[in-house]
Amino acid sequence: MTKKIPLLIDTDPGVDDALALLMAFSDPGHQLVGLTIAAGNVGLEHTVRNALKLCEVAGREDVPIYAGCADPLLHPAADAAYVHGRDGFGDIGYTPASRTAETEHAALAILRLSHEHAGELLLVALGPLTNIALALKLDPTLPQRIKRFVVMGGAVSAHGNITAAAEFNIAFDPEAAHIVFLAFPHIDLADWEAVIAHGFLHVEAEQWLQADSPRARFYERISLQTRHWSADRRGDHWHSADALAMAYALQPEGALELLERPVAVEMAGTLTRGATVVDWNRQEGRPDNATLLMRYDQARFEGLIRAALAAT
Ligand code: BDR
Ligand code: CA
Repeated sequence: MTKKIPLLIDTDPGVDDALALLMAFSDPGHQLVGLTIAAGNVGLEHTVRNALKLCEVAGREDVPIYAGCADPLLHPAADAAYVHGRDGFGDIGYTPASRTAETEHAALAILRLSHEHAGELLLVALGPLTNIALALKLDPTLPQRIKRFVVMGGAVSAHGNITAAAEFNIAFDPEAAHIVFLAFPHIDLADWEAVIAHGFLHVEAEQWLQADSPRARFYERISLQTRHWSADRRGDHWHSADALAMAYALQPEGALELLERPVAVEMAGTLTRGATVVDWNRQEGRPDNATLLMRYDQARFEGLIRAALAAT
């Protein structure tokens, strides 16, 4: 039997984070070694509580959860409660999980786990990059121990979702993203524009959500508000950013088109703060530091979502 790949996820659950986590929970090829929790979609108190509850619903209370930074490194940022609900999980009023988070800080857990799984760890970031930036400041050798780093974030041709040019995860904490994009020699990037190109039909998702499983029943409830919000604004297709990034992380062989380019983060622009600037023509002499996911096998992506919900 081949050894499972150790997987560490930094996340700010969040409705699409929850779907990505369900995908990771049900993946046979990966061993989930922990969840480090960021603030982003909503405040840290809620994102930690949501991670604990999702693990309980999915029967994955074996997965340790580490709370991270409550705020961006420098500047306060607005959350995305208008998409995910005030509590980040659709305000369904669930009973909190009985378990609490570990006492170790997320940044320290990232460093410790990077040593325990040195050279093997798959690190996936589904939220603002604050915890990972802090870990890098504590120990700049972190990238040497990470086998692969997948980030959901950015908008490669500046079609942003939170501002005209910037995507939410990067715009929430541009200084952290800058630190991370400078420090890691290579990032596998699933950006917002790839997400828009990989929507799936609401009517089909509604069928998957009817699956007779605790995961599907819970996910149907927590995603209702955001599905309505999405259908109002974006029409027939639902877009799950973190789920696409997780598909690429778990099954990179599903990628049908990838491009290598240098990517940097804008911190100072008046209109473009938080934008990911791709040097498409390689004009500035910087090395390629990112693989951009341009196209992923749609059927494989949807199959992974169905499996995560225990739907057929
Ligand atoms: C990203 O922002 C968050 O709202 C989502 O959870 C996702 O990680 C999409 O821009
Ligand atoms: Ca997220």
